[in-house]
Amino acid sequence: MAEFMKDETVKVIGIAGSIRQGSFNRMLLSNMFKLLPEWAEKEIVELNAIPVFNQDLEHDQPAEVTMIKEKVRQADLVIFTTPEYNHSMSGVLKNTLDWLSRPPVHNPFSWKVAAIASASTGAVGGARAQEDLRRTLTSLGAIAVPRPEVMIVNADKKFSQDGILTDPIAKNLIAELLDNSLRLALSVKRAQYETLTVFSRA
Ligand SMILES: Cc1cc2nc3c(=O)[nH]c(=O)nc-3n(C[C@H](O)[C@H](O)[C@H](O)COP(=O)(O)O)c2cc1C
Repeated sequence: MAEFMKDETVKVIGIAGSIRQGSFNRMLLSNMFKLLPEWAEKEIVELNAIPVFNQDLEHDQPAEVTMIKEKVRQADLVIFTTPEYNHSMSGVLKNTLDWLSRPPVHNPFSWKVAAIASASTGAVGGARAQEDLRRTLTSLGAIAVPRPEVMIVNADKKFSQDGILTDPIAKNLIAELLDNSLRLALSVKRAQYETLTVFSRA
């Protein structure tokens, strides 16, 4: 697991793109959060109360949106799990990203490290949804962790009754993705601090 310096922390926010009770992506996110190290500050934010995006309100956003936006802004790492709906990310997730991205001057994703995983009952595990999500995050200036690609295929057979991920290959993959993501998040955080120091010295 990634190493940290004394007094250093990393803030992690988790977002699942399905609000369905019994969602495999929500289960996947919970399993990932259980693997995060103790020194990480962590919180899963829920999307149930996010209204449908309306650009008329982009300068007067609902409280549910501004609350999540602020949490993303403060996070060093955002972990997304997304279902695949009709070869794309879910509307729930895209709707949230559209809110968070507006107005552009308040976009909280610039230089934000983002980890992506997906679970689907189908045979490609949400690969196409991940491509969509990666493209959207890139457009927002986020840094999507490239490897490993975590796609849980046949998700209805990969979790126990109480939501524990049971597939050994998937378990290894999420551990590796978290390790890479934490390393990158720490590197970006340290680099931003060093850049600030350099500029204040100039
Ligand atoms: C509207 C809709 C469209 C779907 N389209 C796809 C699809 O394109 N590819 C796929 O692998 N699964 C598809 N599925 C199946 C989902 O992967 C499956 O329902 C999954 O469990 C959803 O994620 P969740 O368990 O986190 O809610 C679709 C499901 C719904 C409801």
